[in-house]
Amino acid sequence: MAWWLIVVVVIGGVSLVVALHDVFQRKHAILRTFPVVGHLRFLLEKAGPELRQYIVADNEEERPFSRDERRWVYTTAKRQNPYFGFGTDTDVDVTGHLTFRHSAFPVARTIEAGAPIPCTKTLGAWRNRPGAFRPDSIVNISGMSFGSLSGAAVRALNEGAAQAGCLHNTGEGGISPHHLHGGDLVFQIGTGYFGARADDGTFSLDRMLETVSKGPVKAIELKLSQGAKPGMGGLLPAPKVTKEIAAARGVPVGQDVASPNSHSAFGDIAGLVDFVEQLADASGLPVGIKSAVGQEAFWVDLSRHMADSGRGPDFVTIDGGEGGTGAGPLVFTDHVALPFFHALGSVYRSFCEAGLSGDVVFIGSGKLGLPPQAALAANLGIDLINVGREAMLAAGCIQAQKCHTGHCPTGVATQNSWFERGLDPTSKGVRVGHYIEGLRRELLRLAYACGAQHPALMGPESLSIVCDGHEMQRAHDWYGIDPTHTHPEGRRDEVLAALGSDRPTG
Ligand SMILES: Cc1cc2nc3c(=O)[nH]c(=O)nc-3n(C[C@H](O)[C@H](O)[C@H](O)COP(=O)(O)O)c2cc1C
Repeated sequence: MAWWLIVVVVIGGVSLVVALHDVFQRKHAILRTFPVVGHLRFLLEKAGPELRQYIVADNEEERPFSRDERRWVYTTAKRQNPYFGFGTDTDVDVTGHLTFRHSAFPVARTIEAGAPIPCTKTLGAWRNRPGAFRPDSIVNISGMSFGSLSGAAVRALNEGAAQAGCLHNTGEGGISPHHLHGGDLVFQIGTGYFGARADDGTFSLDRMLETVSKGPVKAIELKLSQGAKPGMGGLLPAPKVTKEIAAARGVPVGQDVASPNSHSAFGDIAGLVDFVEQLADASGLPVGIKSAVGQEAFWVDLSRHMADSGRGPDFVTIDGGEGGTGAGPLVFTDHVALPFFHALGSVYRSFCEAGLSGDVVFIGSGKLGLPPQAALAANLGIDLINVGREAMLAAGCIQAQKCHTGHCPTGVATQNSWFERGLDPTSKGVRVGHYIEGLRRELLRLAYACGAQHPALMGPESLSIVCDGHEMQRAHDWYGIDPTHTHPEGRRDEVLAALGSDRPTG
């Protein structure tokens, strides 16, 4: 046999063995979907730091999540070494850079793996809802519908939520069997009323109650808008409306499904509050709203109306303009709605002025799934943090930014069965759980370093922001939030008493 033929046979044989191994292993979605060539990604990832020294950019250049941020999520999710060597490569003097001011006397505690960190407020307490409860985890999974995400990804998120003891928001696509793997749910209702929809597309209370009874639903979230595309409707094209998706949403199979840009059930603040109360009365559950922040008058009027009437949402989820979506126009993703921390300042101030900031539970989302941002949010008035894309990263997303094409190579944001097959929900569910536990752990470590027993108790003196490239300012002042509202006198004792034996311990 000619020598070159031997080489071809050997290479072909080795490739076949590698391909079979790749297709049948369950650890790496990329290899299951792209056998043999998928190894290139891992090689390039490994050689990345060396290559970047000669060719490209730094660790913080990529967006929406930098290489460092993604590496932190991946290693945390895999329980590998999440540390970075040699010291920071961040420019710590640039305007906007956040610095935590540690205490000379940190809290001396070790942190158990999976330590829960309960919320300091009770969801639904303000309105005395029968289903009021205090969430066990201040980190929870943000709404991402079945339809925008694959069934395997939804299942991985739900299993991760069960493992980490946190809440899993369904997103606006209804509740599917993929949501029923042990994780507690927040059922989201959007303008399409999926899972709570009459045949003519309007809201149906009976259908909502039917859906809520399908699973462990702990709260209901009424979505007004999301940061990436507020004030805009959406369309799920006919080919994506599979039998499973149609069943979860309560729509006919194989027909286009439109979500309008506004609600048909109400059209002003009084109507919104009445609707919230109707959902809460019928279900007994805490009910909140999710919104991106645009015109400030809405928040001023809503909080005043709530203070005057003593009625309204139990929680408010503030989504930053930098938030994610399965698909959105560039002008909306880039230019509509305030960035998260400015949005928080604006909403929180309105509720403070109405005297309700201690009653309403504030939830935040918009790149908060990383320790510094999450800790900052927790100290500026956010009670619960929702993580969306960071949880997708933990489930195997590589930030290919192809969610809108249906060709997500990792099987996370697709309905393509070959791509979806690559994602093993069980192993990825464990990673999602590890990531949430890991984020909580970092929050606790930061809190302890600052001498606080809960991440929300670090206090205004512990968070500084560089302004104008040289001066340090308190983060509260930078974002215009009054620390006497977020950290009133006696709050520390109140929080510790409320947490009782649930307080995070070592
Ligand atoms: C693929 C995808 C689907 C989403 N679907 C929904 C949805 O159904 N309802 C919703 O309120 N937000 C949706 N979002 C927005 C997220 O819930 C979240 O608010 C936003 O991405 C900000 O959080 P993050 O920066 O942690 O991703 C979606 C985001 C992504 C990336």
